[in-house]
Amino acid sequence: MFDTVIFDLDGTLSDNSEGITASIRYALGKMGRPVPGDLRRFIGPPLRMSFQRFCGMTDADSAEATRLYRERHEVIGYLENNLYPGIRALLTALRRQGAYLAVATGKPQKITESILKHFGVYHLFDQVEGSQPNAVTNQKSVLIARVLARHPGRAVMVGDTEDDMTGAAEAGIEGIHVQYGFGGDWRPEAMPSVPDVAALSEALLGSVPESRGVFISLEGLDGCGKTTVANRLETLLRQYGYPVVHTREPGGCPISEKIRELLLSKENGEMTATAEALLYAASRYQHAHDVILPAVRRGCAVISDRYVDSSLAYQGEGRGLGMDAIRAYNQKAMELCMPDITVYLRLDAETSLRRRLAESEPDRIEREKREFFERAAQGFDRLAEQEPDRYLTIDASRSVEAVIGELNRLLPEYLVRGGFWA
Ligand code: TYD
Repeated sequence: MFDTVIFDLDGTLSDNSEGITASIRYALGKMGRPVPGDLRRFIGPPLRMSFQRFCGMTDADSAEATRLYRERHEVIGYLENNLYPGIRALLTALRRQGAYLAVATGKPQKITESILKHFGVYHLFDQVEGSQPNAVTNQKSVLIARVLARHPGRAVMVGDTEDDMTGAAEAGIEGIHVQYGFGGDWRPEAMPSVPDVAALSEALLGSVPESRGVFISLEGLDGCGKTTVANRLETLLRQYGYPVVHTREPGGCPISEKIRELLLSKENGEMTATAEALLYAASRYQHAHDVILPAVRRGCAVISDRYVDSSLAYQGEGRGLGMDAIRAYNQKAMELCMPDITVYLRLDAETSLRRRLAESEPDRIEREKREFFERAAQGFDRLAEQEPDRYLTIDASRSVEAVIGELNRLLPEYLVRGGFWA
């Protein structure tokens, strides 16, 4: 339909309200000023003006507030930013149709490129036009004209503010306004306006492309730092534009949570290894059926703290039942779904034991002897060796920062390799 599709960034491709409001709070906090209500009003217009208008600041104070804002925003705030769900699928589908894709934003060029790279969508754009520090003007119409100079043809500007639509009109191209961003109640008179990404996709493509979900499990010995990594993983996947469902095993849905109580209660010391393995398998099937599969089908990223690999390692190796028996018990759940990526936080039994002892009350499984965890660790290692494409292995004996750094670096690689990112 369109030869060229030009997108605004903030409020159109991504929701950056979190980073902006957190950085405003930081600036006001440093100045000992109260935080006014509804900080989203700050998004869009020049900051200095907003500090004056909404906080009653003098010219000098608003300049200082803006400086403090930048101090935080330019280091961490600009990455507290989520691609809107559905945008990645839309961009991929437009590209597949042969459209020339561009970004035209008032944000500085460099930061814009870093953000697009962080989201893993930079490669989908043919041209990125951000503001240049020394340019005479960074008006939208000028940025649009730069795109048209390189790629003439039927073009459209997609944006959430009046500024975007005025820019499109001035540059002589069509515009589509999106209502989900920061444009407030403003609506264009002579241009179409759509409420959400699905309607935008209809307008640009004539259909809504399917978003492919992804299933990621987290594995490792007790004390490997699963909780911290799971939280980081959740943040990253939201930034990449996935709706996220975070769940756990054993448990994750009402019936499986009841089975969890049975499994982990210290009173059930007489439970046979086989009954234990079958209970894990039963809990897993219900969880996969009720939670994981439906969410992946809806296009979500599902993070599960543990999945079948825990049974293979703990019951198969730890309890000595053998991995074949565990695979047989879990066949039904594995047919429903298998993780696309397994983040394996690798830890030796010794460190695991040390970290567990530092924590409070151990549960029934955590009371096991060191040999049990040594066998389980070997089980995980073997699985990682057998399936290097699925296993994203991280040495978890290091600092949290090192582990998270590696996750930041490796996750995009695995998403590209697995075909989740075009
Ligand atoms: P988890 O909830 O990860 O423990 P915590 O939150 O306390 O770190 O898992 C509970 C225990 O169940 C843990 O020791 C590992 C064990 N487990 C198995 O032995 N087999 C399995 O299939 C699963 C999912 C967990």
